[in-house]
Amino acid sequence: MGLCGLGYLLALAGLPNIAAMRSNLNRRAMLTALATLSAASSAADDERSEKRAKGDDILVAYFSRSGNTRVVAGLIQRALGAELFEIRPAMAYPDDYLEQVKKATEERDRGFEPPLAATVPSIARYQTIYLGFPIWGETAPAVIRSFLKKHALAGKTLIPFITHGLWPGK
Ligand SMILES: Cc1cc2nc3c(=O)[nH]c(=O)nc-3n(C[C@H](O)[C@H](O)[C@H](O)COP(=O)(O)O)c2cc1C
Repeated sequence: MGLCGLGYLLALAGLPNIAAMRSNLNRRAMLTALATLSAASSAADDERSEKRAKGDDILVAYFSRSGNTRVVAGLIQRALGAELFEIRPAMAYPDDYLEQVKKATEERDRGFEPPLAATVPSIARYQTIYLGFPIWGETAPAVIRSFLKKHALAGKTLIPFITHGLWPGK
C-alpha cells in the first residue's frame, strides 16, 4: 500500500496522517529554500548589472608616448564611467623620436617584454578591459606584450583600440 492509500485509511479512522503532514512540511521547507536561493541569486545579478551600469567593472588601460592615445582613452573612460590605468615601462622610453623608432624596432624584432613600472592593483575586479596603444612598427609596442603577459585576463572581454600615423600594418 502506498502512502496515499495509508493516508486514506487513517482519515477514515479519524486519525491524523503524520506521513502527509511531514511531506507537506518538507515541501514547504524546500519551497522556502528555493525562494531564498532565487532571491539571493537575483540580488547578485542586480549587483552585477548595477556595477556594469556604473562602469565599475570596466578598465581602460592605455599606453601613450605623445598623448594621442591618452586623449582617446580619456574619452572612453569618461563615457563609460570606467577606471583608467596608464601602462608605463619601468625604464622610460627616449624622448627623441628617431631614437625611439630604433628602440621600438629592436624590441619588436627580438620579442622583448620590457618590465612595467606598475601593474593593475586588482585586475580580478574588471570584467571588460579596453586596451589602447599607438601602432609602433606596424604592430603593438613591446610594453603591450608585457602588459598582456603580466595580467590574468582569461575569461575577460578585451577591447583593443589604437591610434596610428600613416600605416597601421596589416
Ligand atoms: C616608435 C614609433 C613607431 C611608429 N610606427 C608607426 C607605424 O608603423 N605605423 C603608423 O601608422 N604609425 C606609426 N607611428 C605613429 C604613431 O602610431 C602615432 O603617432 C600615434 O598616434 C602616437 O600615439 P601616442 O601619441 O599615444 O604615443 C609610430 C610612432 C612611433 C613613436
